[in-house]
Amino acid sequence: MNINTVKSKLPRTERISDFMRTVICPGSFDPITNGHLDIIERSSVLFDKVIATVMFNPAKKNNFCFSPEERAELIRRCTSHLPNVEVRVADGLLAEYAKECGAIAVVKGLRAMSDFEYEFQQAQLNKKLNSELETVFIDTKSENMYLSSSMVKQICELGGDISDFVPAAVRDDIVKRIMRGAEK
Ligand code: PNS
Repeated sequence: MNINTVKSKLPRTERISDFMRTVICPGSFDPITNGHLDIIERSSVLFDKVIATVMFNPAKKNNFCFSPEERAELIRRCTSHLPNVEVRVADGLLAEYAKECGAIAVVKGLRAMSDFEYEFQQAQLNKKLNSELETVFIDTKSENMYLSSSMVKQICELGGDISDFVPAAVRDDIVKRIMRGAEK
């Protein structure tokens, strides 16, 4: 009996999970911005399951406003309308973590050309570490092209309005945390 015949005899739920395409949207998410949310939302349309994961970027150490769990909590609040999105925190190598999750790909948003070299390097190295892992790039919406968590933090710290840059559900928490940090 070939594999397709076996699959056709399985109960419907098992057939669906058999074809489940799981992807990871990794990032520092300190904090989540409209740009991140857009990529997670669009990934959730393209794939069966999306695991948005707060991971450690060594290049950004000592410069975080929120703890990893707090960042995950903010993402959960913004993605509660997406039933196939799960939010986690993970340590270690993304390439190894993807294997543990059974993920077929990592999804990254690509903003201006300046992102490309860095993202391409990471994609190549992740592929070297896990030959089955693909990286899928989604083009950022033009309104989010120059948006980043660090710019949001800077604008907020200097008293600017961040309403256009972060999801409404988390705006006040971000403002409170950054203003508190700025007072210290
Ligand atoms: O939002 P960021 O900071 O650009 O996300 C970068 C992140 C966290 C995805 C990246 O630093 C990462 O993959 N960290 C996990 C450690 C790892 O696998 N490093 C090697 C990447 S080739």
